[in-house]
Amino acid sequence: MHLLLIPLLRILSDGKFHAGSELAQNLGVSRATVSNALKTADTLSVSVFKVRGRGYQLPHPPEWLDAEAVRQQLGLLAQDVRLEVVDAIGSTNSTLLRESTTHCHCLAAEYQYAGRGRRGRHWFATLGGSLSFSMRWRFNQGMGALAGLSLAVGVSVLRTLHQFDLTEIQLKWPNDLLWREKKLAGILIEAQGDANDSSIAVIGIGINLHIPNETRERIDQPMTDLQEIAGHTLPRNILLGTLIQQLVLALQEFEAHGLIHLSQEWNAAHAYSGRSLCVTLANGNTLNGSAEGINHQGELLLKQANGEIITVHSGEVQLARPGQNFSGDRHAAGA
Ligand code: BTN
Repeated sequence: MHLLLIPLLRILSDGKFHAGSELAQNLGVSRATVSNALKTADTLSVSVFKVRGRGYQLPHPPEWLDAEAVRQQLGLLAQDVRLEVVDAIGSTNSTLLRESTTHCHCLAAEYQYAGRGRRGRHWFATLGGSLSFSMRWRFNQGMGALAGLSLAVGVSVLRTLHQFDLTEIQLKWPNDLLWREKKLAGILIEAQGDANDSSIAVIGIGINLHIPNETRERIDQPMTDLQEIAGHTLPRNILLGTLIQQLVLALQEFEAHGLIHLSQEWNAAHAYSGRSLCVTLANGNTLNGSAEGINHQGELLLKQANGEIITVHSGEVQLARPGQNFSGDRHAAGA
C-alpha cells in the first residue's frame, strides 16, 4: 500500500470527482505520484473510479474513524482515556507494546498492514470494514492475577454488541466471539510484568464490520461480520466509543473482583456449553470432554466420560467430530 493512499481516499470521500492535478496540488506531490498511489487501492479491496477528463472518484466511501466522535461517545470517561486514531500502522498491539508507557492508552487504526492474531496467525482486516484497536492497561496485580483477563474482555465486547441490539452472539473459550458458529471478533492479549507485583497488558480487539468476499476467501475458518448479523451497516465511531467504554468498565471490574461476577455472564453466552470438545494444548497434546463452562480463574471445565471434571488453563478449542469417543480420552498433561 502506498503511504499517500489513505490521505487521497479521505479527500475522495466526498463522493465527487477530483482531477489528478488538484489531488497532486493538495498533497504537494506530482500527478504521477497520485496515480501510483491510487493504483494500490486494490490492496485494500477499495475501488476507485477513474474517468478521463473528470478525474478520480470513490464510489463507496467508508465511515472514517474520527477521534472526536469517539471521544464524544466516551462521555466522562474521555478524560481518563488517551485515545489515538491513526491511518495505517503495522499492528496496534505491537506499537503499544513497543512505544507506550501510558495507562489506559487506546490506539485505533484505520488499517493494519501486519495485524496479528493469536498463535502467530495473521489478522485480516479491510479499510473501513473492520475495527482494529488496542488498549494498554497497567494492573496493580502481578501477571498471576491476569489469568482470565481475555474472558473479561470478551464480556465487554458482548455487552457492547447487546447495546446495538445484536443477539445470538456467543463466546468461544478462551477469547473469540462467534455468531452461529462463525467468527465475528478476536482478542489478542500480550502481558508483561512479574508474577506478583504489577503488570502491563496490551489488549487488542479486532471486529469484522463488513468484510468483502476477496478477503473472506483468504480466511481459513468460517467467519461473519456485523453487516451480515444486523442486516445494515453499524456506525463505526459510535461502536468504537462504546467498545472502549465497556472495555474500561470491564477492566475495572476485573481488577476489583476478578471473574467472580463476569464468569456468570460469560457462561450464559458460552458457544459450546454442554458440547463435546477437543482441546489442543500448547505442547500439541489433546484433551477431550464435554464443555461445562468456565471457573473464576477463567479455566475451561471439561467433563470426562467418567464424570470427572478437569480444568484447562490454555489451549485451542474445537467441536469434536461426530462419533468421536471420549471414554477417558486424556492425552495430555496441563489439566
Ligand atoms: C485472534 O482472534 O487471533 C486475535 C485477533 C486480534 C486482532 C487485533 S486487531 C487490533 C490488535 N492489533 C493486532 O495486531 N491484533 C489485535
